[in-house]
Amino acid sequence: MTKNNERADWWKQAVVYQVYPRSFYDASGDGLGDIRGVTARMDYLRALGIDAIWLSPFYPSPLVDGGYDVADYRDVDPRLGTLADFDEMVAAAHDAGIKVVVDIVPNHTSTEHEWFRAALAAGPGSPERDRYVFRPGRGEHGELPPNGWRSTFGGPAWEPVGDGEWYLHLFAVEQADLNWKNPEVREDFKRTLRFWSDRGADGFRIDVAHALAKDLDSRPLDEWPDDPDQASLSQEGEGGDNPLWDRPEVHEIYREWRKVFNEYEPPRFAVAEAWVCPEHQWMYASTDELGQVFNFEFAKTDWFADDFRRAIEEGLDAAERSRSTTTWVLSNHDMARHATRFGLPQVRSREHHQLVNDWLLRDGRTYVEDRALGTRRARAALLMELGLPGSVYLYQGEELGLFEVADIPWEALEDPEARMTEHGDAIKGRDGCRVPLPWVADDPTDAFGFSAPAEHAAPHLPQPAWFGSHAVDAEEADKGSMLWFYRHALALRAELVVPTGDTSLAWAAENGGEVIAYERPTADGRTLEVVTNFGAEPARLPEGEVLLASAELNADGSLPADATVWVVR
Ligand code: GLC
Repeated sequence: MTKNNERADWWKQAVVYQVYPRSFYDASGDGLGDIRGVTARMDYLRALGIDAIWLSPFYPSPLVDGGYDVADYRDVDPRLGTLADFDEMVAAAHDAGIKVVVDIVPNHTSTEHEWFRAALAAGPGSPERDRYVFRPGRGEHGELPPNGWRSTFGGPAWEPVGDGEWYLHLFAVEQADLNWKNPEVREDFKRTLRFWSDRGADGFRIDVAHALAKDLDSRPLDEWPDDPDQASLSQEGEGGDNPLWDRPEVHEIYREWRKVFNEYEPPRFAVAEAWVCPEHQWMYASTDELGQVFNFEFAKTDWFADDFRRAIEEGLDAAERSRSTTTWVLSNHDMARHATRFGLPQVRSREHHQLVNDWLLRDGRTYVEDRALGTRRARAALLMELGLPGSVYLYQGEELGLFEVADIPWEALEDPEARMTEHGDAIKGRDGCRVPLPWVADDPTDAFGFSAPAEHAAPHLPQPAWFGSHAVDAEEADKGSMLWFYRHALALRAELVVPTGDTSLAWAAENGGEVIAYERPTADGRTLEVVTNFGAEPARLPEGEVLLASAELNADGSLPADATVWVVR
């Protein structure tokens, strides 16, 4: 077990590895990763040196949105295994000293959920419909939607059910939004939190945590602006005045959940996925609510020192306000992989980079990528990130240095976001970072070892030929690989910085301009200085012993471009 995990508040400085179960490892041979696949790879996870795994949804689901369309919150999708498999996986993780975080999706259920079926059968005005957000349509027979709101995945946010009523779905049509004013909804989710806590879950990741509370009644629905861009209803707008996102009442829900978390010893924690403005993030993380909130500023930042510096400052600020710690995230299952994002020579200005993620997902086929540059910067980014106080969330495959897979044929795409828009734009969606992991470079069955049995179905998303050189066995055999670099850096972090429990950070003398440099106390009473050079000019190294560098230092001992170094003194 890592020293960090001996603490009751282990999650405050944890390294959490996100497992996207359907693409991690397939123990059954159906081409879909599964729970037994996670158990089978526990040694790999332990050797990596992480504190916890977070599993994206593995519940029964029609898989319209990669499992974020849940049909039953207290079971395992039969294609992924059974509850007994889950219990075994948790036991194996705990034996390996690894904590387990599960994903809760409270904003919406799948339309295959028994509640939604009951709502359709019961008709308007019924208690069954009240668990969701049904409203009468406009027009003589309710043939028009209640208003012009658009869903996050495109298209109208309202769907008619044939009897004059429409239901709200902020995401796909098959993801119906729940009504969090309904007491039964509130009670049921507390039951779900206890269900997984009782089965050994150590924490939770809360999907779209900022959308649960809605205000659809304080003014007539058709008075809300319904322009397709919805600038005035953007997810990141100011809280309180938006009927859908980041409403103040959402915090009451999390204060109730905190009571549930505190029934356990050690208390459970949760991390909120809340795409809200930085000034509002900390509330979700406060000690009487979830404990932590994702800080996505790193993920939104391209390779510019000022932007990263600001992201660090904002993250530390939010942590202080919430009296918790912040999180650092470079990649997850919703964005283009950062080894690709950082390797785009086209991105020369901040104005341009703001759009990079969107742009990659939009038209994945035409960008030019400098992979050597992307890899070099990904290594530098990791060292910069791992020295920071707070938790680090890694996304499966980043430890192999995977790039975004851009050339998935349209007919193979699974993401509901993949579509041609009304404006003729192509949006290829988020599948490029969800391709099944390569485990074996030379696999005669053409799945790069993703599936255990010799006879197996094809991986659910096609893997590109270049995955071979990133396969786990190939990287294990090469001490210069990204995998070895991750292992080395994670081990140093676990030994050197985290055990102090100190979450302070001081900017170092070298900090400024194209150089980010900060200092932290080490467990053995020394000072660690982390220096990242974003500029083309070599940067001066501070005094001390070089522990680890993301790239070879210059002959004169200076730090080259796009590199990070850890120095102790
Ligand atoms: C979150 C998930 C994303 C999903 C959406 C709707 O943003 O991370 O994958 O599509 O919620 O559930």
